[in-house]
Formats: sequence, structure tokens, C-alpha cells
Amino acid sequence: MNVACDPRGRVWNYETCRSIAPLTLEINRLKREKDAVILAHSYVEPEIIYGVGDFTGDSYYLSVKARESRASVIVFAGVVFMAETAKILSPGATVVVPDRASGCSLADSISGADVRRLRVLHPGAPVVCYINSTAEVKAESDVCVTSGNVYDIVTSLPEPRVIFVPDRLMADNLRAELRRRGVKKDVLSSDGTCMVHDAFTPGQISQARSQFPGLKVVAHPECPADVASAADFVGSTGAMMKYVKETAAPYYLMLTECGLVGRLEVEAPEKRFIGGCRLCPYMKLNSLEKVRDALASPRPDQIVTLDEDLRLRASRCIERMFELVPKN
Ligand code: 13P
Ligand code: SF4
Repeated sequence: MNVACDPRGRVWNYETCRSIAPLTLEINRLKREKDAVILAHSYVEPEIIYGVGDFTGDSYYLSVKARESRASVIVFAGVVFMAETAKILSPGATVVVPDRASGCSLADSISGADVRRLRVLHPGAPVVCYINSTAEVKAESDVCVTSGNVYDIVTSLPEPRVIFVPDRLMADNLRAELRRRGVKKDVLSSDGTCMVHDAFTPGQISQARSQFPGLKVVAHPECPADVASAADFVGSTGAMMKYVKETAAPYYLMLTECGLVGRLEVEAPEKRFIGGCRLCPYMKLNSLEKVRDALASPRPDQIVTLDEDLRLRASRCIERMFELVPKN
């Protein structure tokens, strides 16, 4: 396994795999004992994804897997809002997080009270919340969306005006896509951004294109609009992976978190990636040791608990997404 993007700079040879084997074996034994599954976002470290993860993907895929799960325990190796979403959709399971500090600059940017204030300011406009939001914000919203379905779901809403929270940059990309589709709709937004994707610039793209002829630039919709409009493809992390696997090019520039490049280096070893990805400090808080501890004997701070009334309200918002998501 060759993962040049490994944040700790490890070379993934036989010795590295041997050194983590005692932990992966212990975790896999614990999973059987506790009737547990491990859901892992593509941004977490390769030893979690390939050593112990049962399902790996983007936020939408993992929420589908959480909803389908009949396991007694769900370990969510990702960030806290993802684990909360799993608890909302699979309330009978014990949902645990390896590290309670694994927040998200988007989810942390807005509260339920802020959403209530926006509703008062813009009466009649439905609130569309990006899945990168707390359970409290979902409970105050009408429909949840992910990076993979935001354009289709907002297009399908009948109202001429929507409030989109919390990602200001995704709101800019949404407005551009609605214009491209000829959909007339006002999108009001709040002011959150992803600290990872907000930092990419169009200058980075032009410099890379001049150095690497034939380069394909692949961006996430959390990037600024001038970056997204200069990219060859914009989509969720799942769609970005699919695009790279299915598109021929001499080089790719991935404007997203480095974990996704790590996955592609493993699953599409013939592809060549030039630098440029960035690390999410929250995703990188996950480790095999913390996964083992959360599974073996979770501390109270590792267990996700939600007030039942709030959970039910948040669940309505997420279920509306499943109703509106285009069926292919
Ligand atoms: P995806 O749902 O596209 O994986 O995005 C999640 C995320 O946090 C991106 O920063
Ligand atoms: Fe949040 Fe950005 Fe990290 Fe994704 S990459 S979890 S949006 S801070």
C-alpha cells in the first residue's frame, strides 16, 4: 500500500502493517464480541479505513449505512456531527466517537437559536441545512442536504427563497449551479466555512495547470466559488473519487482533504496526484488506539446521547432528504 499523503509520513510497507496488526486484530475481535460496525469517513487515516472499517465513504453513504445498520454498537470514525447523524438515524444503537474533540468549523459556526433568528428575519423561507451541522441545527431545519445532493434537492423545492446554513461558500456554488440550470431561486446563507476548503485559491489552480499540462482539477463544493468555477469537476468526496477513477488524465490536483488522495493512491495506484491537498485537524484526531478504547469500554464523553424530542425533530429533517434525493 503506497500512501504518499499519510500525515505522519509513514511508508506503508510490510513492517508498518505488522506493527499495527496487534491493534487491528484486537479491534476486529472486539467488533465481533460487541456486535459493532465501524463507519469511517474517507478523510480518516488509512489504518482505520483498511484495517478495521466496515463501511467507508462520504457523508451521504455513511448516513445510509447508519440508517440500515442493525448493529448494537456503531463506532463513527469521522467527526462528531456525523456520529450524531448516525444516532439520529439508528437510535437503538450505542453510537461512539473515538475523540469528542473532533468538531468541524462548519458545524461549530451556527446554533439552533441562530436558525430560529433567521426564520424570523425571512418568514416563509424553508431552512435547508448542510449535513455538516449539529443535531440542534438539524432539529430547527426543514431539510438536510449533503455535498452530493444539495443541488438537486434545492432545485426540487417549490419555494422561491430558501435559507441555506451553515456554509457560505457552498451557498455561492449553489447559486451558480441554480443559475446554470435556469432555476430562479434566492439563496440566503449564514457565514460558516470549512477551514480546509476555504483556503484553496484560483492561483493554485493556474500555477498547477501551467506546470502540469493535461491536469484535471477536482474540487469539493465547500471550496470558494472562484476555485470551483476553475475546476474540471466539483462534487462530494464520493463523486470526486468516482470521477478520478473513471477519467483519464496524466495528473490530478485534488482540492480537498488529503485522506481522499490517500484512498485514491491505494485504490487507483496508476493515477498520479500532484500536491495541494490539506489536512483536517478534526478528522486526524481519530486513531486506532482511540477506536479500540471507544469500543472496549467507552468513556461517557465518547458516547453520543441526544434528547429524544430533539432527535425526533432532527430525524424529520434528515428523512425529508431521503424522500427528496433523486432515485437513480
Ligand atoms: P462529503 O460528504 O463530500 O464527504 O463531505 C464531508 C466533509 O466534511 C467535507 O469536508
Ligand atoms: Fe468540517 Fe472541513 Fe473538516 Fe470536513 S474538512 S470535517 S467540513 S472542518
